[in-house]
Amino acid sequence: MDGNIWELYGISSNPFTTEPLLIKGGILRIECFVGREQEQRELERKFSSSGSSRILIIGDIGVGKTSFVNYARFNAIKEGYFTPIPEIAVLHDWDALQFVVNTLYAIYITIKNFDDYQGLISKLLYKKLESLFEINLKSGYSIGLDVAGFGGNYGQSRTAPVFMSYKAVVDLTREVIIEIYNKREKELIIHYNNLERIDSNDIIRLFGDLRDFFQTPHVNFIFVGNLVTNNAIQGIPQVSSIFSEPIILRSMSYDEVKEIIDVRLNKLKIEGVKQIKPFDNSALKMLFGLYNGNIRHILNSLDKAVTSSVRNIPIVLDDSDVARILSNQIEEKYLKDIKPRAKDVLLKIVQSEEITNKGISDALKMPRPQVSIYLSDLKNSGCIVLRRQDGKDKFWASAPHFKWLLLKKPDLPEDLNQKLMPKFMK
Ligand SMILES: Nc1ncnc2c1ncn2[C@@H]1O[C@H](COP(=O)(O)OP(=O)(O)OP(=O)(O)O)[C@@H](O)[C@H]1O
Ligand SMILES: [Mg+2]
Repeated sequence: MDGNIWELYGISSNPFTTEPLLIKGGILRIECFVGREQEQRELERKFSSSGSSRILIIGDIGVGKTSFVNYARFNAIKEGYFTPIPEIAVLHDWDALQFVVNTLYAIYITIKNFDDYQGLISKLLYKKLESLFEINLKSGYSIGLDVAGFGGNYGQSRTAPVFMSYKAVVDLTREVIIEIYNKREKELIIHYNNLERIDSNDIIRLFGDLRDFFQTPHVNFIFVGNLVTNNAIQGIPQVSSIFSEPIILRSMSYDEVKEIIDVRLNKLKIEGVKQIKPFDNSALKMLFGLYNGNIRHILNSLDKAVTSSVRNIPIVLDDSDVARILSNQIEEKYLKDIKPRAKDVLLKIVQSEEITNKGISDALKMPRPQVSIYLSDLKNSGCIVLRRQDGKDKFWASAPHFKWLLLKKPDLPEDLNQKLMPKFMK
């Protein structure tokens, strides 16, 4: 891409970025959050009812789970609640000790780095945390820390030997929590993200071990995951009994999606320049339908459609432009190198929400071992993903951008290049 194409539209930077909204920092300010009023109220109610709680937020990939919890925490901070600013990205190989150490670290780093929290805990306790984290980090060891840094990239990983017992870390964490609670007189809010990336068996193991920690007084524990996470938790009765009903986040409505983008355009407006919206309603409606309202996939598609077609003129893409640009992209970039029969398998998967080997084999009259080979190739090249597994049955779905193949290619007399050409050149 040459230069900044967004300037052509009077927009200061990419309005289609799909990073989650962060409490502090981030490309887009958290005030860009739209909708979900009822679910926000539900969460607020849980925060304000006294006592500790364990709340699971569930939804599909990219529906807006992380942004939802961050926005709730952003509002809670304004009400005087304390919450460690970075979400804690739980990793699949964590044990209970690493889980608690990373919780404590998130609290520590928040007190250390954010001006508002200086002096929140006693000097003595702060020194204890400092020696625990800084000395271990400096000497090249850590105590099983995986949280590091801010700005939407919390996943940096450091792991090494542990020098404290689980009990000692839990006791220290509880001491810190009590001090903060006494100061603020409000329960803490701790946000654990990405549990959907952890296998059921690992969740069952980890949460089973953490049951007592989860009952630490004065904390609202918030976990973000999906249906599989919920099922795993339901599978451990001692743990599920301390959880409240999950909050389910569904895909956005069309009006919400439209508003999200309009709010972004508004916030990114370059003062004094006329702003042009890069797409029209027909394009948005088409993508909304294609992805059933999944905000992440819609934003990604708009991003691709604009950045891969616009050069010097701020054209407004309609549905047929977007359909042509995106389906061409996928054909040129990905389909060229795929064997014809593998392509048939891929197309079958693209057309289905999810499908098994048997489903494909029946539909294409192809032997199952042959389907297996193609499935494995398609998976390795990132065209398809395993959506879920039920016993031995594996359900496959296409990677989101392959759905672009479903966009109809309208028969238009002139191609896009002509449309891109200024009138006087035609
Ligand atoms: N309610 C909302 N208002 C405004 N923007 C939103 C909202 N929900 C989601 N978004 C935007 O949609 C994109 C996806 O959101 P987010 O990353 O929070 O989803 P997620 O469900 O956590 O995704 P993942 O499953 O990948 O973790 C982000 O760019 C975010 O800014
Ligand atoms: Mg997320």
